[in-house]
Amino acid sequence: MTNRYPVKNEQVALSIEQVSKGFNLIKPPNAWQRFTKQIMPKAPSKDGENGYTKRPVLAVDNVTFSVPRGEIFGVLGPNGSGKSTLIRLMCTLLSADSGKVEVFGYDINKEEMQVKRLISRVSVDAAFFKKLSPMENLVYGARLYGLSGQDAITKAQQILERLGLDKATFKESMEDMSRGMQQKVAIARAFLTTPVLLLLDEPTTGLDPRSKHEVRSFIDELRDTHDATIIITTHDMEEADYLCDRIAIIDDGKIIALDTPEGLKQMVTAQNGHKPTLEEVFMQLTGKKLVDPNAVEGAED
Ligand SMILES: Nc1ncnc2c1ncn2[C@@H]1O[C@H](COP(=O)(O)OP(=O)(O)OP(=O)(O)O)[C@@H](O)[C@H]1O
Ligand SMILES: [Mg+2]
Repeated sequence: MTNRYPVKNEQVALSIEQVSKGFNLIKPPNAWQRFTKQIMPKAPSKDGENGYTKRPVLAVDNVTFSVPRGEIFGVLGPNGSGKSTLIRLMCTLLSADSGKVEVFGYDINKEEMQVKRLISRVSVDAAFFKKLSPMENLVYGARLYGLSGQDAITKAQQILERLGLDKATFKESMEDMSRGMQQKVAIARAFLTTPVLLLLDEPTTGLDPRSKHEVRSFIDELRDTHDATIIITTHDMEEADYLCDRIAIIDDGKIIALDTPEGLKQMVTAQNGHKPTLEEVFMQLTGKKLVDPNAVEGAED
């Protein structure tokens, strides 16, 4: 299938040294620590006062991967591990302190407009005109992308029906809809323009099992019939296992494993003679942090 916009090459390549999100004051001293500091003062720290330690929050820390065209690439990781930051980087909402992202050969900093034409993003906290209906929101979005009025209406209707949204709700105000239903409208909006790269940040969080299933099969179909490349973050291991060709597991802004779901399962030891599930892989690989003494660093001041 041909795309509306030409691409320079056949992959999304990301190589980021770091993205810092301001500074955190880590582990402020307790009363005893403050007292000992008064009687045994250290040389004043350049970054903080009274022993408070000021450290940069590294949301992404040396992450490099490339995703070939047509792949569904999953990014898994605990809360705060940097998944949304990666997605925001790839859709030009955020700049890295250092590093580079190329979407099918276009540099996201130097060729932002070309990149924007190729991508669409769905995030778990999608924004809408709350007083407008799903149809109005979708048609508005479609018109912005250059679809004619009638095409926009037809396509919006098709996608909303395909996602299993009740017809009666098409014209209801968005603010009266449940979060799950709103999420479906967000997904429908992203699919209106058949993007070449679809960035999905927890697209099925908050959906009921049937809706999750509908969205999953729609994502699958979109890849097969529209030649879309999809980068998806999720906390649903079963979903990642079902959908993804390859998965990166990130923790503290770093990639700790990257492989096919099957390859990841071979990285951990089987429990009770069963082949490990992706959830067990995730727990074993990221769970190490729970007993890592560095996890309580910062208490020294
Ligand atoms: N606006 C912000 N200001 C300061 N720090 C932020 C901001 N947004 C994110 N962070 C920090 O950046 C790091 C990565 O956050 P990010 O939202 O990318 O994580 P995530 O993997 O998407 O988490 P979740 O699974 O909860 O969605 C975290 O340490 C977070 O506290
Ligand atoms: Mg997130």
